[in-house]
Amino acid sequence: MDKEDKIRIIREQKWINYSDAVDIIKELNDLKSYPKSSRMPNILLVGDSNNGKTALIEKFISLNPATFSEENSEMECSVVAVQAPPEPDERRFYNSILEKLLAPYKISEKLDARQMRVKNLLKKLDVKILIIDEIHHVLAGAPTKQRKFLNVLKFLSNELKISLICAGTKDAFNAIQTDPQLSNRFSPRVLKRWGFNNEYKRLLLSFESKLPLKEPSHFIEDGFAQKILALSEGLIGEISKVIELSAIYAIENNFEKVTPDMLDKIRYVPPSDRKKVIYKL
Ligand SMILES: Nc1ncnc2c1ncn2[C@@H]1O[C@H](COP(=O)(O)OP(=O)(O)OP(=O)(O)O)[C@@H](O)[C@H]1O
Ligand SMILES: [Mg+2]
Repeated sequence: MDKEDKIRIIREQKWINYSDAVDIIKELNDLKSYPKSSRMPNILLVGDSNNGKTALIEKFISLNPATFSEENSEMECSVVAVQAPPEPDERRFYNSILEKLLAPYKISEKLDARQMRVKNLLKKLDVKILIIDEIHHVLAGAPTKQRKFLNVLKFLSNELKISLICAGTKDAFNAIQTDPQLSNRFSPRVLKRWGFNNEYKRLLLSFESKLPLKEPSHFIEDGFAQKILALSEGLIGEISKVIELSAIYAIENNFEKVTPDMLDKIRYVPPSDRKKVIYKL
């Protein structure tokens, strides 16, 4: 394997089964067989940006792909996932569901008709779980707009009797809290920032095991692990980035392992220092 191959492998997205993710994925899986009722359980996945919400959702989707039934030539999908539009716009929100279900829509279609069509399609496909990522986008803005979207969530949950899994930042959690009916239907699941503990060390071991380097780097040694945690500020996306950059540094400089001094050579700027760098310009 040449250097380029190794670098490509290092950059590839990988999934690490850390224990909170395993627990949450199991919980999401259980929702698929939850009996239909007027109070379907919903989950709100809350976490800081770059801390694994979308990765977890993508993993769950990959375990539940849509299938095509040869028998009746219909699509079957128990799990549908969409990304909320960047602003609270109901029409665009319904469009993103229709697009996901490969259902064409006309620009001129009225909002009510569009809503009905989404409802009927989700019913027809026997969708059990609707995932909405980046939910904080549509729960942002003026309270009237916020309420509109809270009502959309209620409509989907009540009318379809499906479980909603929403992922977003703390702002989404706060918005849902303003509606008592929704707040007691959504259980929050928090992806906390990583701290210096055994779970974090297990994560480092997993990252290390996926590196195409011949010698062990021993990320879990206290000083090394602390340094990676401080740089990454406890965000899994940053931990992964720091490891990626330092492993690439090692390869480019003909080393077969990463050493702590390399962390100073990769010119990595921790997330909270990034703004400062720009302001200095
Ligand atoms: N289980 C995992 N195993 C390995 N890497 C992961 C895992 N989860 C997250 N990552 C890494 O962290 C990065 C950021 O994760 P992700 O995109 O899921 O964050 P997010 O919480 O959705 O952030 P945002 O709120 O900004 O959308 C991923 O691109 C990936 O590199
Ligand atoms: Mg995301």
